[in-house]
Amino acid sequence: MTHKAYFIVLDGGDGSGTSTHSQLLKGFLEYKGFKVYLTHEPSKSEIGKILRKFLKNKEIPPSTDALLFAADRDLHYHNEIKIKLDEGYIVISDRYLESSIIYQSIQSENISIEWIKQLNKFVGQPDLTIILDVDPKIALARKNEEQLEKFEDFEFLEKVRNLYLTRAKQEDYYTISSDDIIELVQEKIQKIVLDNLRNL
Ligand code: TYD
Repeated sequence: MTHKAYFIVLDGGDGSGTSTHSQLLKGFLEYKGFKVYLTHEPSKSEIGKILRKFLKNKEIPPSTDALLFAADRDLHYHNEIKIKLDEGYIVISDRYLESSIIYQSIQSENISIEWIKQLNKFVGQPDLTIILDVDPKIALARKNEEQLEKFEDFEFLEKVRNLYLTRAKQEDYYTISSDDIIELVQEKIQKIVLDNLRNL
C-alpha cells in the first residue's frame, strides 16, 4: 500500500474520549497497512509540561494559557508533526488548534477567536478534523472527582460543548456523538477516516 501523508485531529470537550479514540484509530489504521504517528496536545515538550502543571492552577491568566498553548503548538507542529508528515506518516493529534479556539476564548471575553488564530498563524492546518461531542454530565461522570482540572466543571463544559457544535457547523467539521459505547463511536470515526483517505 502506498503511504499517504495525512493530518487528522480528534478534538472535543473534556471526557469526550479523544485520547481513547486516537489510540484505537492508530491501531486500526496500522492494521490497514498505514504508517501512523500518534501525538497529543499539550505536547510532550517542556512547554507542554508547564501547561499540564497550569491545568491544576486556577490563578494562571487566560492570556498566559493562550500564549503558552500557541507556543507549544508552534513547536509541536514544526519539530514533530511536520517532520512526520514529510516522512509520509498519517499523523493523528489528540487535540490541536480547535482546543485553543474553544477553551481560551471561553476562558475570557477579552480573548477573541481572531487573536488565537493570529497567535497560531504559523502552524499547518489539519486535513481532517473530527469533533467528539459529549454531554457534560456524562463527561464528568467519566472523570474521577479528585483529579478534576480547572476546565472540568459543568457550566464551563456546557459552554465548551456549544461552541464546538457552532464551530463544527461553520467549519464543516465532522461531529460524532461520544455518548454511545466506545465501539460504536470508533466505528463511525474509522468510516469517516477511510472514506476521506480513499478520496485523496
Ligand atoms: P486533555 O485531553 O483533557 O488531557 P488529559 O485527558 O490527559 O487530562 O487536555 C488537557 C486540557 O487542556 C483540556 O481541559 C483542554 C485543555 N486545552 C486548552 O485549554 N487549550 C488547548 O489548546 C489545548 C490543546 C488543550
